[in-house]
Amino acid sequence: MKRRIAVLPGDGVGAEVVAGPVELLEVIAAAGRIELTGPWPVGASAFGALGTGLPEPTLAACDDSDAMFFGAAGEHPGVSLDAYRPEHSIIGLRQRYDLRVSIRNIVRPGGGRASGSRVRAGEGRGRPLIVLRNLLGGAYGAASTRTESDGSGPACDEVILTPDQITELAEMACDLVEQGLASQIVSADKANLMATSRLWRSITGQVAESRGVPLRHTYVDRMAFELAHDDVTADTVVLTEGIFGDMLSDLAAGRAGSIALCGSASVNPGRPVRGNCVGLFEPVHGSAPRHTGTGKVNPSGAYLALAALLEWFEETAELGRPVTEALSESLQAGPLTYDLAAQGAETVGTESFAAAVNARALPRLKRLL
Ligand code: IPM
Ligand code: MN
Repeated sequence: MKRRIAVLPGDGVGAEVVAGPVELLEVIAAAGRIELTGPWPVGASAFGALGTGLPEPTLAACDDSDAMFFGAAGEHPGVSLDAYRPEHSIIGLRQRYDLRVSIRNIVRPGGGRASGSRVRAGEGRGRPLIVLRNLLGGAYGAASTRTESDGSGPACDEVILTPDQITELAEMACDLVEQGLASQIVSADKANLMATSRLWRSITGQVAESRGVPLRHTYVDRMAFELAHDDVTADTVVLTEGIFGDMLSDLAAGRAGSIALCGSASVNPGRPVRGNCVGLFEPVHGSAPRHTGTGKVNPSGAYLALAALLEWFEETAELGRPVTEALSESLQAGPLTYDLAAQGAETVGTESFAAAVNARALPRLKRLL
């Protein structure tokens, strides 16, 4: 089956960071391996132009695609946050396609360790660290789980997790280990406080045991320490509840050196619920309004998202590795974008860095097309 990908650059730097990866998608499409549509408007910029963050033609194009390649959602000049909250586009797409699981890949430039690391040299080298979490349910409940307050009474957010939701996530973490993408699972919870975490701990433990996959339980605060202290090897899947994973993935990216070193996949691991769409692939960072138009931001997260997209579908899975390899080599060889360059070192802009990645990726891709 030929997979169809809809490109949604979104707000701010979105269009800048997806440009390089889209060139690779165009080459793959020209070889007849995928179909590519777009760019489709989405987010605050779409709201400014069309009065809605999720215009009908965009939704129709996404329904008609297997996956969305997304740039960023954020603020847009002339659109007030009171009129439109940028996260509505992402949350709306997650709900529309039941994208209930988030898989995040965090790479380390050079694959190495930060100073002070307790990770032995070479351990997990070149592999991304994976954070796997629920995106719907748990702290990411529907509107009905939220009670707003006008300031006089309490506000409430209910956290509800079902055994099925936890089982699905734990099985997926085991799959990642079986596929050789990691060699162990570390499950982070707050079982010393929360009922949902105690259920989490019991089910994740049972699933891992029945699958014969090594799993260590840890408290989420301890996990934050270990990530910040660089004690977690990159051969690990961090398996955790949605809100914990939201924070831990940013923490891991911070430790790696930049928020741009994290790619994000929101997926429905089951049957599509509307049209064919089963995934939203994006860099984890936002629209970076301060940097929009400067051409300086690091497009690495968009490359990681592209690799994750290609790897998600059997038909294109082999095309993911050339992208990650090209990215890793470019991060290792430099020159780097401003966020990663050492003080006083030469820096490059988005386009030049993307050109370097593509120059490394294209010959490898072409051998497989
Ligand atoms: C992310 C974002 C979202 C999340 C927000 C926009 C709801 O922080 O994708 O990490 O919490 O999942
Ligand atoms: Mn986040």
